[in-house]
Amino acid sequence: MKQINLDFSKVFRFIPEKRIFDQHQTITAEKANRDLEQKTGDGNDYLGWINLPSSTTETLLDEIQESATVLREKCEVVVVIGIGGSYLGAKAVIDAISGSFDNFNSNKKPLIVYAGHHLGEEYLYELLEFLKGKSFGIVVISKSGKTTEPAISFRLLKNQLEESVDKEEVKKRIIAVTDPQEGALLELAKKEEYKIFYIPSDVGGRYSIFTPAGLLPVALAGIDIKRLISGAKEMEERTKKEVPFEKNPAAVYAVVRNELYKEGKKIEILANFNPKLHFVGEWWKQLYGESEGKENKGIFPATVDFTTDLHSMGQWIQEGERSIFETVISVENSRYSVLVPEVEVDLDKLNYLKGRSIGDINEKAEQGTQQAHVDGGVPNIKIVIPELSEFFIGQLLYFFERACGISGYLLGVNPFDQPGVEAYKRNMFALLKCDM
Ligand code: PA5
Repeated sequence: MKQINLDFSKVFRFIPEKRIFDQHQTITAEKANRDLEQKTGDGNDYLGWINLPSSTTETLLDEIQESATVLREKCEVVVVIGIGGSYLGAKAVIDAISGSFDNFNSNKKPLIVYAGHHLGEEYLYELLEFLKGKSFGIVVISKSGKTTEPAISFRLLKNQLEESVDKEEVKKRIIAVTDPQEGALLELAKKEEYKIFYIPSDVGGRYSIFTPAGLLPVALAGIDIKRLISGAKEMEERTKKEVPFEKNPAAVYAVVRNELYKEGKKIEILANFNPKLHFVGEWWKQLYGESEGKENKGIFPATVDFTTDLHSMGQWIQEGERSIFETVISVENSRYSVLVPEVEVDLDKLNYLKGRSIGDINEKAEQGTQQAHVDGGVPNIKIVIPELSEFFIGQLLYFFERACGISGYLLGVNPFDQPGVEAYKRNMFALLKCDM
């Protein structure tokens, strides 16, 4: 069966293979993985994500699909409101799987647009203008219901919807995804009789892609959520506590990145050679940044899109401070083939490529880049994903979640809290109140 595979061979030039697979690593990584699964480590009240793929019922998936279908049929545009963990997972999957121009294609319905992920005033004005005269719906995702950015966007969009359709229709056009026990959005959604889906209380935002927070927008985009979950389930099986360390890709990745960190590699650059993976990188940055960046430690997660960024960041990666390592997501097969045409006047001297596919050229760019960066002193981890499909994206995202939990425990932090996120909020609220 096809599956995601990891290649660590380009790390062993920098750290001996035997140091990665020695007895100490085996014992500590297996313990970290056991602590996750048995909920015996730090942050154990936020470990509900660990068996989401295997425990999500067909009934819930059908219910999500059904609500998505209703909104798809009713609306030209659906606005998905959320920030951080309530936004990035869905955006990552939708961008990876959908057609790049779906949002410009008038035959595709509905158009999915996003709000609540920043405080861009011009963006919000333009969105409200854009929605005038259109049939639109809202999926509002917030565990707390009090996060400033989505809450403000929701106020604006809800008002506009209420002005354009009657009360009964509003109820059919708004779906809330929130905490099952408490919070402002839960209270409002109940009062206004919106359809509600729940993010389990023991699942934090950045680990919520396999809850309705991720699944509902993904289903709205016409993506097969059952295939996504079945891919994740396969990875859950491959990384469970009974799997020996050396066979568990998440555990080995976690150990490798921690050993590189000890060697002064303070920055991990997640690179892709496919623009559809840009938001997988954004999702990954939040996952690892919020999970590990605490107590004055943690690898800084950065991302690049290649070959685009080889023309901007390539110089730094090749010759800048040697404090980085690279993890490259390599997609094996393209869904389509585009061939280089021959031209009569070969001014750019590229006729020698005639008939070669873009995928083939991209692959050579990838191999050439890997060699150059390794030669330049950048350790390289390669994650090979057979193709961009629901099944493999499900595998990939669960792999990163599981590895992040193990990696945080190896680093000695609680990977499931985010105390530092509150600091800017405290200042912002104090400043806002001072102005009044
Ligand atoms: O990972 C997290 O916990 C955060 O990114 C939250 O998901 C984000 O701040 C949004 O919070 P909420 O869903 O409560 O609006």
